[in-house]
Amino acid sequence: MIPKSFIHDLLNRLDIVDVIERYVPLKKAGANYVACCPFHNEKSPSFTVSQSKQFYHCFGCGAHGTAIGFVMEHGGLGFVDAVEELARSAGVTVPREAPMPEAQQHKVATDLYEVMQSATRYYRDQLKQSTPAIDYLKRRGLSGEIALRFGIGYAPEGWQNLGSVFANYQDSSLLETGLVIENEDGKRYDRFRDRIMFPIVNARGRVIGFGGRVLDSGDPKYLNSPETALFEKGRELYGLFQALKAIRAKRQVLVVEGYMDVVALAQNGIEYAVATLGTATTPYHVQKMLRLTDKVMFCFDGDAAGQRAAWRAMENALPQLVDGKNIGFLFLPSQHDPDSFVREQGTAAFEQLLQEALPLSSYMLRELSTQVDLHTQEGRTALLQRAKPLLTVISAPTTALLLRKEVASLAGITQTELEALYAIKPIGAAPRRAPQKAARPVVSNLRVLLRCLLFQPDLARELPENWMPVGAEAAAITALTEWSRMQEGAVSSAAMIQNFQGTAYESLLAAEQAEIIQWGETFNVVAEFQDVLTRLRDEQRKQQLQGLHVKMHGTGMKGLNAQERLLYLQLLQRSELK
Ligand code: UTP
Ligand code: MN
Repeated sequence: MIPKSFIHDLLNRLDIVDVIERYVPLKKAGANYVACCPFHNEKSPSFTVSQSKQFYHCFGCGAHGTAIGFVMEHGGLGFVDAVEELARSAGVTVPREAPMPEAQQHKVATDLYEVMQSATRYYRDQLKQSTPAIDYLKRRGLSGEIALRFGIGYAPEGWQNLGSVFANYQDSSLLETGLVIENEDGKRYDRFRDRIMFPIVNARGRVIGFGGRVLDSGDPKYLNSPETALFEKGRELYGLFQALKAIRAKRQVLVVEGYMDVVALAQNGIEYAVATLGTATTPYHVQKMLRLTDKVMFCFDGDAAGQRAAWRAMENALPQLVDGKNIGFLFLPSQHDPDSFVREQGTAAFEQLLQEALPLSSYMLRELSTQVDLHTQEGRTALLQRAKPLLTVISAPTTALLLRKEVASLAGITQTELEALYAIKPIGAAPRRAPQKAARPVVSNLRVLLRCLLFQPDLARELPENWMPVGAEAAAITALTEWSRMQEGAVSSAAMIQNFQGTAYESLLAAEQAEIIQWGETFNVVAEFQDVLTRLRDEQRKQQLQGLHVKMHGTGMKGLNAQERLLYLQLLQRSELK
């Protein structure tokens, strides 16, 4: 165990700019330093390092962290190795402390990621001991190597096997991770029984959920982890972590429908495939992939469901389109999915199909024009109606322009007429007005508060003690506050980030890190903090007043007890002062 205080000292002693410069040349840009991101392919720099705050953030791929995180991610090192490496470079030795006493150990074990990791290890060990499960995977053409790469395991039969894995089967973390289910009588049992287990891993390589497949036939075929603090289906892609390297090398990503498709493709040398998790492709998925690479290929099963999924994927991709990046659609013969196709026809045949994939625009125009009869006026009207919701959400200028021209010509009208009909801003000809600045998103008060705490963790001491908000942001604020108050002396942003790395709050904090780095020196944290506290107090006051008004309804002050009357008068006075 490395003492936490040592981590803080180390982060204070290091300069993240020096650390990163050893691997990546940095250029000064305003208050920050920038470089082309070492974690994804890019031509213009979006990797940004804040020297004053001692963290980095990539606006391209979302990579973020402290000096420790950078060394971990860049060098592929574990936490301890990264700390040791940095300590060596700073000329200090890493002190060790004895493992914690049992009472505190419990706390550590409730880290949800660790719970998932233990379960993964258990399922993997169980696979080694189950002949039917091994035979099943072999029958599906998988090697031990590929099973290992995807961490595939087996959940044996039985209702409470996890009881032998975790010291306390009643621990809330088992429910929170969705590994166990509790019935109405409060009795618990394992969610996954007699299933092949596919761990779902996030982009940092941590297990956040599982998909479990029945061995033979059974319903449901796949049972998945529920949405949890760790796992949000619409944001994750199965196999992305394993595919990252190949995606960078091949400069493309292939999106398929199933777990088995990803694994079977990897088995056959196509390592850049990922799958959505039984949901439609979301705009977030598309955005995530377009940040990683320039080419996103969707591959859908050849059945009707595949056709519907393709259309949905296209609709959700349109707002995310970027000129110069490619999105393509590939349809398999109707009896096939990628798994069966690649196993039957081989890798070369699959890659050939990939070559012949339809670009998004061709796919859209093909679908639009086959749905209607373009020889009739009614058909052309229908075309214009169907195309409207599609064309109006595209913001990539060149793509939008070309598609408008094509749809207009199919309908026998001009681009200008189409733009007038749809009441959209014309592209092309006329001198362009300055591009409209994207409206700044409305940021909730809690987000601003979170940003302030991250910017200057000491502010936690100035928050009111009886602070009682609800929701994800509030939970993060509470956690940050509690942590800051427990630390001795001043705490840095970097120490805070490091501490919450890998927790359920990480992504929320990362969003605020991105904000802070953009604001740079112009973020007046003290003023923002005071403002947001005032706004939160006003909000609370308003809610209290509303609550009292409900009680007073029809009866006036008589509806209130003495204490409530006092509060009411105080609240009224305060809002008059405002
Ligand atoms: P498929 O039914 O196409 O399964 O579902 P598959 O991936 O080809 O699996 P095999 O080859 O029969 O083993 C595609 C995806 O839809 C989700 C899963 O994510 C699956 O990989 N799904 C499907 C479920 O979540 N639950 C189900 O019961 C079925
Ligand atoms: Mn299949």
